[in-house]
Amino acid sequence: MDIIYHPIGVLHTPFQDLRDMPIQPAGAASAPGTAEIFPEYADGLQDLDGFSHVILLYHLHQVRRVDLRVVPFLGSEPRGVFATRAPSRPNPIGLSIVQLLRVEGCTLHLGNVDILDGTPLLDLKPYVPGFDRPARARAGWLQTSQREVKTRRSDGRFT
Ligand SMILES: C[S@@+](CC[C@H](N)C(=O)[O-])C[C@H]1O[C@@H](n2cnc3c(N)ncnc32)[C@H](O)[C@@H]1O
Repeated sequence: MDIIYHPIGVLHTPFQDLRDMPIQPAGAASAPGTAEIFPEYADGLQDLDGFSHVILLYHLHQVRRVDLRVVPFLGSEPRGVFATRAPSRPNPIGLSIVQLLRVEGCTLHLGNVDILDGTPLLDLKPYVPGFDRPARARAGWLQTSQREVKTRRSDGRFT
């Protein structure tokens, strides 16, 4: 089955190169960005401004290959791609929970973005702590290395 999605907007960020950029929002302290939502979707933005964070789902449009085993940015051993957040996945969908600083018409002002400039936005949802923050979550093989996300930057391994 083929599935065709159409972008609802485009993400603008300071990051023009896949190398040397944050690898998650947690490593992108205050990195600013905007989501320009296409005017035909403007009605869907009503009531969004009360949320401090939004979940962005986007097409990792510069991914050129699929790897089922990857050496992720926060590791040195190969891992199954579905046990990582690596971009080179069969369906290159990115997910970032970012700050929503303000809504200005069809422009969302964002903080903590880990996304390449020009990335097509597929969907946008409010982050709701009571829905999205599970109790007693475990981080598998990332349990110890997850803290390094604050300082580690991307390199060219997935390009
Ligand atoms: C490890 S991924 C994580 C992305 C997202 N937070 C997630 O978990 O799905 C982040 C890296 O993907 C790469 N990237 C970001 N935007 C991209 C795009 N539009 N196309 C391809 N790669 C991208 C950058 O190298 C960035 O450092």
